[in-house]
Amino acid sequence: MKPIIQARALIKRYGTFVAVAGVDFEVAPGECFGLLGPNGAGKTTTVHMVSCVLPITDGDIQIAGLSARNEPRRIKAMMGVCPQESNLDTDFSVLHNLVAYARYFDIPTPEAKRRAEALVDRFRLRDKAAQCVDDLSGGLRKRLLVARAMVNNPAIIMLDEPTTGLDPQSKHQIWDEVRAMKQAGTTVILTTHYMEEASLLCDRLIIMDQGRIIESGTPRGLIEKHAAGEGTLEDVFLKLTGKELRE
Ligand SMILES: Nc1ncnc2c1ncn2[C@@H]1O[C@H](COP(=O)(O)OP(=O)(O)OP(=O)(O)O)[C@@H](O)[C@H]1O
Ligand SMILES: [Mg+2]
Repeated sequence: MKPIIQARALIKRYGTFVAVAGVDFEVAPGECFGLLGPNGAGKTTTVHMVSCVLPITDGDIQIAGLSARNEPRRIKAMMGVCPQESNLDTDFSVLHNLVAYARYFDIPTPEAKRRAEALVDRFRLRDKAAQCVDDLSGGLRKRLLVARAMVNNPAIIMLDEPTTGLDPQSKHQIWDEVRAMKQAGTTVILTTHYMEEASLLCDRLIIMDQGRIIESGTPRGLIEKHAAGEGTLEDVFLKLTGKELRE
């Protein structure tokens, strides 16, 4: 199948510092593709370039045949993004955040309201719908961030650490949502530090370190290759990166 995302020799430099040092990967439509790696590996930088919010220094990304360099607006229209750090509008209510975000996609207000109401229910935010984001707990904000990423019914959804800081129940609920997105044919890019999460959700993944891809494959394939088929993805991760997990 033709890939929906293709990154070729992708590089990001900040001055002389190289955050992403030439990465190549492909994502098939409908796949859940994982980005793993220790702090500072370049995962978020890669996600930002794929979602067209950060200029590419060198190389290219093609998304559904469009170049991220030339067609950022068309790419953004088909993409949902849940950023690692909240950029919710803290002065607005939960519901208003969803409706206001829908405006970026030129979704007419009545339809935006319908979608916002449905997402509030789906993400169990109903009793907080009228509450100002400033007053929400960190976990509730995270749930709202994931909900907001779905407001434009995206073909591709980028989830940068969507479950960090969530209680077990909320984490499982996000996992169920990711499964539902996959079921609906949505392509998912998932960044995570939770190896269990990657094992359960990702069809394929890459492990990055210092801006490079150091290994790639299916969770099971990587366990076969690096942990004699007996360990966990966490064993693989520690063996390859030699770093402790943040968890
Ligand atoms: N605006 C910036 N200017 C300079 N360096 C930056 C900038 N943004 C990120 N970096 C650096 O680029 C590297 C990669 O950062 P990035 O946020 O992509 O890592 P990450 O893999 O997402 O890490 P984490 O797991 O902590 O989220 C880090 O060394 C970071 O300090
Ligand atoms: Mg990050």
